[in-house]
Amino acid sequence: MEHKKLVIIGASGHGKVCAEIAVRCGFEKILFLDDDSSLTFCGRYPVAGTVTDSDKYIETASFFTAIGNSHIRERIMRKLEEDGGEITTLVHPDAVISESAVIGYGSVVMAGAVINADAIIGKGCIINTAASVDHDCVVEDYCHISVGSHLAGTVHTGKHTWIGAGAVVSNNVTVCGECMIGAGAVVVRDINEIGTYAGIPAKRMDTMT
Ligand SMILES: CC(C)(COP(=O)(O)OP(=O)(O)OC[C@H]1O[C@@H](n2cnc3c(N)ncnc32)[C@H](O)[C@@H]1OP(=O)(O)O)[C@@H](O)C(=O)NCCC(=O)NCCS
Repeated sequence: MEHKKLVIIGASGHGKVCAEIAVRCGFEKILFLDDDSSLTFCGRYPVAGTVTDSDKYIETASFFTAIGNSHIRERIMRKLEEDGGEITTLVHPDAVISESAVIGYGSVVMAGAVINADAIIGKGCIINTAASVDHDCVVEDYCHISVGSHLAGTVHTGKHTWIGAGAVVSNNVTVCGECMIGAGAVVVRDINEIGTYAGIPAKRMDTMT
């Protein structure tokens, strides 16, 4: 089943960028759902109801969840799955993606992003503008690789981990799930404990002086 109509859940700035990518991917009609009832438009597109209204579109549209919070993103995607909704993947035509890379459904890959050979991106991930994910990386489900951040070869990021804007993770390094890596950080050693890490080299923030 292929639809040209897309329902985007989450009428934020991120949602607006996703809508523009969706147009580049061939969607002809776009509307948003958001629980903030004060919102009427997101960019050029109407906010047509709240998240529970997704039921109304299950048979006639595809869905994309554009929510920054990875746990909420997962919860909404799971509900759509249970309801039998078709969840789309959005890849900007100006992203460069190896033929051997795998991208999980419900993920978005934004303009200028590069995903190299044999990288595996899980479902519900955000590979943001001009981010790079190099060869053999594994980015588990619901990660966010922020604008201009770089994962060198064979990096592994666990579920729900957020790599901040402009951060770098050195080759062969693992960052466990549920971590926040601050903007501009450089991660040079494995991170095995959940936490927020920042700086060069990255250190756990509650241990910084
Ligand atoms: C790391 C981060 C999560 C910390 O947020 P926070 O817990 O609210 O931290 P605060 O802003 O209260 O800052 C606490 C201290 O850490 C410092 N700090 C914050 N972020 C830092 C970073 N990325 N690198 C180095 N130091 C940082 C602050 O300067 C402050 O230092 P001070 O106490 O000496 O003034 C956040 O700053 C960050 O980097 N978020 C990433 C945002 C991002 O990349 N968005 C991408 C969207 S695509």
